[in-house]
Amino acid sequence: MSSLAFIGAGYVGLVTGLGFASLGHDVTISDIDGDRIDRLEAGEVPFYEPGLAELLQRTRSEGRVRFTRSNLDAVGSVDAVFICVNTPDRGDGTADISAVERVLAEVAPRLDGDQILVIKSTVPPGTTQRTIQELAQRGLPVAVVGVPEFLREGRALGDFLAPDRIVIGGDDPEAVTRMATMHEGFDAPVVTTSATSAEMIKYASNAYLATRLTFVNGLANLCEAVGADIVDVTRGIGLDERIGSRFLRPGPGYGGSCFPKDTVALVRVADDAGYDFALLRAVIDADHEQRRALVSKVREGAGGTLEGVRVALWGVTFKANTDDTRNSPAIRLGRLLVAEGADVVAHDPHGSTDEFTMVDDPLDALEDAQVLLVATEWGMYAGIPAPEIAKAMKGDTVVDARNVLDPTAIGAAGLVYRGLGRA
Ligand code: UDX
Ligand code: UDX
Repeated sequence: MSSLAFIGAGYVGLVTGLGFASLGHDVTISDIDGDRIDRLEAGEVPFYEPGLAELLQRTRSEGRVRFTRSNLDAVGSVDAVFICVNTPDRGDGTADISAVERVLAEVAPRLDGDQILVIKSTVPPGTTQRTIQELAQRGLPVAVVGVPEFLREGRALGDFLAPDRIVIGGDDPEAVTRMATMHEGFDAPVVTTSATSAEMIKYASNAYLATRLTFVNGLANLCEAVGADIVDVTRGIGLDERIGSRFLRPGPGYGGSCFPKDTVALVRVADDAGYDFALLRAVIDADHEQRRALVSKVREGAGGTLEGVRVALWGVTFKANTDDTRNSPAIRLGRLLVAEGADVVAHDPHGSTDEFTMVDDPLDALEDAQVLLVATEWGMYAGIPAPEIAKAMKGDTVVDARNVLDPTAIGAAGLVYRGLGRA
């Protein structure tokens, strides 16, 4: 087993660090957010992720993990240092990698030739290669590899323990081999490639998945227009093994800390490289259009205007099984409704926002509501009896942006069901 350091105790660093600790490695996790470190040392996880609290408790009781506020304390004489700090979108399409660069500048000079520096944070293709060259020019002996993460929030532990593949990018064969050895505990194919190709695999995966989803959303709109049913259509196409049946659920567009950022960043990388990635630009535009089309459905349900209209919003997180509201399509929908004068009252079992009035009981959100908009596919919403929805609402339109409610039950309760692509 190895001794490993993880810098950044976020969705990626904490899940990956505790995951490696659960496999028997000795792990140190550092973060500049002292409160976060204090909470972790007290056994508290800083965000909702199924199974993470139990994993923290188990790895701490086994003495496999320790936390520190100091990156230098964390790296000490470990075998490998994983950089897992966040790389947010600057707003102009470029990824803000300043945190990665800051950490590199701090720890790289303290590492020796036996240690490996791993860039796990999502960085634009070419970043790791540039880092390798810069460190070599400074005569620093540490080897650098890129090992991108493919964790989905809400199922991050499962994705860590049972990955579809391990991707290792670097030009130092010995370091790449050692990194592959550290990942031997996983039953997954290992792709070893250049650092730039490893980074491109990450961006390409997210951009392809976002494109797939946006195609399905467009298909749902077309199904609605021609009287086809998207649920049957996606089942029918998904049985083609070249397409596969997963990741074909229509919705309010893609959100989270990755897809919105990584699609825009890849278009920017292409522009900077002199290639116009028109298809991906069209995906980004179509994603925004999906939410405008949904707002039109809500407006129609309210009789043509949203001025002064109460709208109940079920769900504020970017998807179910997480409390993360980063780039949440649900919140973006709520903003568009408010911009037209609507009074939005929201519910979410795990997430929250201060942008709208939040209530604890989904039925309370329906009081005086002309329209109910279901924006996140929390299972609990499907369990609420339609007659109770009808009784609690003032109006009669239910816009189901996740196709989670039963159209027949909603109709039988005297409500008007507007799903996505439902015949
Ligand atoms: C991950 C990936 O690392 C990122 O590349 C991808 O774009 C989004 O998903 P994530 O783990 O979700 O980032 O970020 P976040 O949950 O914000 O956690 C980042 C942690 O790093 C925070 O706890 C922050 O305090 C810490 N951090 C940030 C440092 O410890 N040092 C820094 O210099 C900056
Ligand atoms: C994604 C990638 O899946 C993961 O590999 C990468 O490491 C990080 O980014 P995540 O952002 O957690 O993971 O969410 P994901 O489950 O991929 O969903 C992304 C968005 O697509 C969400 O807004 C979700 O609601 C939406 N989605 C997903 C759909 O609308 N329909 C689907 O069928 C699946």
